[in-house]
Amino acid sequence: MEGFEVSMGTIWRLAEPADVPVINALAARSIRALHIGSYEDAVIEEAVHHAYGVDWQLIRDRTYFIAEIDGAVAGAGGWSYRQTIAGAHGPDEPAAALLDPGHDAARIRAFYIDPAYTRRGVGALLLWLSEAAAREAGFSKAELTSTVPAVPFYAAFGYRPVRPFDMALPNGSALRLELMDKSLIANPQEP
Ligand SMILES: CC(C)(COP(=O)(O)OP(=O)(O)OC[C@H]1O[C@@H](n2cnc3c(N)ncnc32)[C@H](O)[C@@H]1OP(=O)(O)O)[C@@H](O)C(=O)NCCC(=O)NCCS
Repeated sequence: MEGFEVSMGTIWRLAEPADVPVINALAARSIRALHIGSYEDAVIEEAVHHAYGVDWQLIRDRTYFIAEIDGAVAGAGGWSYRQTIAGAHGPDEPAAALLDPGHDAARIRAFYIDPAYTRRGVGALLLWLSEAAAREAGFSKAELTSTVPAVPFYAAFGYRPVRPFDMALPNGSALRLELMDKSLIANPQEP
């Protein structure tokens, strides 16, 4: 995909701790609406409660972005220079170990677009911001665990499937994800 267009009136900013309730509600809304048909209903509900939502460390690290359209939160997403690759993590959890930009791939993390604002370039904007910041921090690769319905989105921006990745859920079921990666050096996306 060559670049992307974003709706008029779209702005972005770093997420703050005060945004956490809004982002958690956004994540639940996004997953419930956009994962229908890709996962069983019971898996969606279990994952909404135990897998998706805010990772506080991203907010503390200033690596999590919010996009607003005409003042409404339209999406959130970010990246990380820490080892955690997926999942919601609370304010009391210890910080995960740092990645080495010389060897490791930066993580692309926690993308949730409001179902009312999909296919307007919001995800693309957040991905571009995340990749640019990771590149700025010295990373030459990025990786992520994509939900099944988000694979075409990441593929549109050059991510390649590596292998399936199952996240265990507390009720014994598993959330099937796809590990994907991308070089941040070859063909970097431009806005
Ligand atoms: C996946 C997701 C982040 C995409 O966000 P978005 O803002 O709708 O994506 P964009 O508008 O920036 O899409 C850019 C391009 O990606 C591709 N794309 C995006 N969503 C797609 C879909 N559902 N099917 C196929 N291609 C898709 C298209 O090429 C699109 O360009 P186009 O609209 O001109 O055809 C969003 O659907 C979402 O939040 N899903 C639910 C939560 C989730 O699973 N997040 C991923 C966590 S790993």
